[in-house]
Amino acid sequence: MTGSPRLLDGKRCGDALKADIATQAEAVKASRGRAPHLAAVLVGNDGASKTYVEAKVKACGSVGFRSSLIRLPETISEEELLARVRSLNADPELDGFIVQLPLPAHIDADRVLQAIDPKKDVDGFHPQNVGNMVLGLPGFLPATPAGICELLKFYHVETAGKHCVVVGRSNIVGTPISILLSRNAYPGNCTVTLAHSRTKDLASITTQADILVVAIGKPGFITADMVKEGAVVVDVGIHRIPDASKKSGFRLEGDVDHASVRDRCTAITPVPGGVGPMTITSLLLNTLKAAS
Ligand code: GUN
Repeated sequence: MTGSPRLLDGKRCGDALKADIATQAEAVKASRGRAPHLAAVLVGNDGASKTYVEAKVKACGSVGFRSSLIRLPETISEEELLARVRSLNADPELDGFIVQLPLPAHIDADRVLQAIDPKKDVDGFHPQNVGNMVLGLPGFLPATPAGICELLKFYHVETAGKHCVVVGRSNIVGTPISILLSRNAYPGNCTVTLAHSRTKDLASITTQADILVVAIGKPGFITADMVKEGAVVVDVGIHRIPDASKKSGFRLEGDVDHASVRDRCTAITPVPGGVGPMTITSLLLNTLKAAS
């Protein structure tokens, strides 16, 4: 392709949506006497998880929500964590909460997610919300896939009849975005292929994609030879790569090798500043919904 691809700027889109969320939060506060309130549970000391959770808490402040960060030790037992979840379910001052993943290996994450009251499950991970999403019924949509849909809408990306290839089948991103983009809606009406670690000759599939969504968790995994000329590329990955030239000691990279891929596509999400801010915005939208 000649010329630069259009950047699908999640910061810009998120900021536009957040202005509206802030207005609606004011209205909720006026009618209920308290602002929407989100709690985030962080177990252990994983640096990346801590950064994400702190960003979620900070975003609450930027739209006038109340927030609580609940830090629990890495050594907490599953039963103790389940007891915390139950007390958050019962807390009348709280509209929604999330338990940041991954959890330590000794804790069964599915059991924890299933213990969350679906009405407070603003991550949309409870089976009841997942089922509602599959059936197209009202409920909470998972934040990252919902954020990708908002971003495609904001930039008027055409989706009907397009071949969308999703790389990665996680419960958090790959599986739900494959469902959302195949439904009879906008964005949606795509023909979706869900590729994963056992897909044979992955490049022969990804090069068919008009819209390529990559959530495989491997830095720089998608290279130019795997992308069709003119594709729209959504990079969900975010990795800390050690880099002595940075003050922080690392730089952020996605699952897509942007340096080579950018010249082949018409639009691409940057890393950072693409999907990440949209995940947070969707979480705020779900919290507002929980509070309304
Ligand atoms: N870990 C990575 N993404 C997410 C997310 O969207 N929500 C939670 N709770 N944990 C995550």
